Amino acid sequence: MTVRHLISVDDLSDGDIRKIVARGVEFRERGAGADRPLAGRIAGIYFGKTSTRTRTAFTAGTLRLGGQVIPLGPGDLQTNTGESIEDTARVLGRMLDVFVMRTAGDPAEMRTFAEEDRMAVINAMSATEHPTQALTDITTLLWRFGDVEGLRILYVGEGNNTASALALALSRYPSARLELRTPPGYGLADDILARVDPEVVTERHDMDDLPKGVNVVYTTRWQTTGTTKPDANWREIFAPFQVTTALWEDSPQAVFMHDLPAHRGEEVTPEVIDGKHSIAFDQAENKLHSAMAVLEWCRVEDGGR
Ligand code: CP
Repeated sequence: MTVRHLISVDDLSDGDIRKIVARGVEFRERGAGADRPLAGRIAGIYFGKTSTRTRTAFTAGTLRLGGQVIPLGPGDLQTNTGESIEDTARVLGRMLDVFVMRTAGDPAEMRTFAEEDRMAVINAMSATEHPTQALTDITTLLWRFGDVEGLRILYVGEGNNTASALALALSRYPSARLELRTPPGYGLADDILARVDPEVVTERHDMDDLPKGVNVVYTTRWQTTGTTKPDANWREIFAPFQVTTALWEDSPQAVFMHDLPAHRGEEVTPEVIDGKHSIAFDQAENKLHSAMAVLEWCRVEDGGR
């Protein structure tokens, strides 16, 4: 039996990333075709936190690839009544082929579900990393530009789980450049900075001297799911980091990306997200194609149980 887990971008080789994102573009352009690689497989789709895109993408993706799903919400598991994560993982691993999970916890907790290597575990967002979002984003870059190498991306906003995963994933493309402009006190965590390629990823905490001629301007919402900000005045700190049409004066060809959900008037103005440069909803669609590529990559390969 072979299962592969996607709990962190660091679980993926350079080749894995390239294979998954290329397959995501194929799914977008050609659909699933007649193959049903998940026929006979069952995916548990556990979301302890709200989701529109990721949950639907992995559910629809499993069904489109011929598998079946068991949806599990925050109130469903006996962990609520005190059963240990370890016992829960041991039981689910004997029944499921894939476990897609979103929690507000550390991704290390997800490793417990992966320990017995009986079901593939996919991190559908954790407090510190959102790896399937990064794969969606790189799929979108490949789909839009034909190549990821050489692209210049300006990320404006909080150094949250989306930014962290994007920085880790883009670090695998040596000639790509990701410049982050994050509010002071809300940058990438030290352990993420220690894992990125400093030639590819740079970060500042102001909006001065922005890079010119970038290919992409990217932002995320200011209030990440499942998190709170310690500073009561955080909106004042974030205000200069709103993405407006002014950013296109020096980068007229740039596309705009956003992982969604969006809060118009906060991190981005309506003119940008609903304007001609925005590919945010193509990016959202790519969550489905990318989820299918991830499910295909991590599937149990022994013919099922
Ligand atoms: N971008 C993203 O993860 O969206 P959802 O929270 O709706 O899944």
